[in-house]
Amino acid sequence: MQVKILSNGFHDPILEDGGVISINNGCHNSQLVEVNKIINGHALGELNFDSTTHLLHDYMKILDEKATMLLGYPLNIYCDEYVALAPLLRYHLNNFGDPFTENNYGMHSRHFEVGVLDWFSKLWEIEKDQYWGYVTHCGTEGNLHGILLGREQFPDGILYASRESHYSVWKAARMYKMECEVIGTLFTGEMDYHDLRSKLLPNQNKPAILHLNIGTTFKGGIDNLDVVIETLKECGYSQDKFYIHCDAALCGLILPFLKNAPKITFKKPIGSVSVSGHKFLGCPMPCGIQIARKKHVDILSRNIEYIASIDATISGS
Ligand SMILES: Cc1ncc(COP(=O)(O)O)c(C=O)c1O
Repeated sequence: MQVKILSNGFHDPILEDGGVISINNGCHNSQLVEVNKIINGHALGELNFDSTTHLLHDYMKILDEKATMLLGYPLNIYCDEYVALAPLLRYHLNNFGDPFTENNYGMHSRHFEVGVLDWFSKLWEIEKDQYWGYVTHCGTEGNLHGILLGREQFPDGILYASRESHYSVWKAARMYKMECEVIGTLFTGEMDYHDLRSKLLPNQNKPAILHLNIGTTFKGGIDNLDVVIETLKECGYSQDKFYIHCDAALCGLILPFLKNAPKITFKKPIGSVSVSGHKFLGCPMPCGIQIARKKHVDILSRNIEYIASIDATISGS
């Protein structure tokens, strides 16, 4: 299939008559059927691939309808503000590699990325020269990165996470082939600290990598960082024997602005914190934030000759 861009007026380009985008193709019926399926059972009739304008218009009509009826999901569906960023879609921006290191590709928004990271580092109380981070694609990527940092620090460490943790945690455990202990939860969704203690005690010979929830997916349960740190201490785990990743996908952008809410802070012995851009921010593009202690990231960093930079991210670009 060939895609040919005829015009680039970027004010609402898709809907404008006169066709901003035209697709010239030898498209098979099976592809039409696939498109029909993608549009979720809505009967659109025969779709005409010569008229992408109509195809997209019909698709947007369906989305408008669905958006008004969406009862709930743990994300903010108000995306209108992001339309202001539409003109940037004319440029192939790519912040590959390390946001703090220049690469050989001029078309990037690294300065904005670092600005975002600095903002989060202040929010979570870690000095500029002590932290490293990047804008990820999602909360899942933040978890994959945070747990990897723990695993790199403690290759024989056991991963502890409550059973109400997001499925990305078990995905990380499978990907990294980690031994894993599932901790029970209280009715609030937060971790059962007695159960944590009972799982930590018999494993004192191995370091602990803890995945804590700052808002579980279904109940918004928040694991109590102070109780977890105290439990680790009581079970004989000194600070050089544990790593804590905080999954703040859901509440990371809510708690800091609430009075008397539990505090996410690097003043406590945590290794990393991640947030999803899809929840509270309602970002309709892949988005998340990962902030970690620099000293833990160095072990992941690799020189990449082709980009003339270094990389310690999961997704690379
Ligand atoms: C607690 C928690 N962590 C991580 C994620 C993953 O976030 P994302 O959808 O941005 O990958 C979610 C998403 O629902 C979540 O609820």
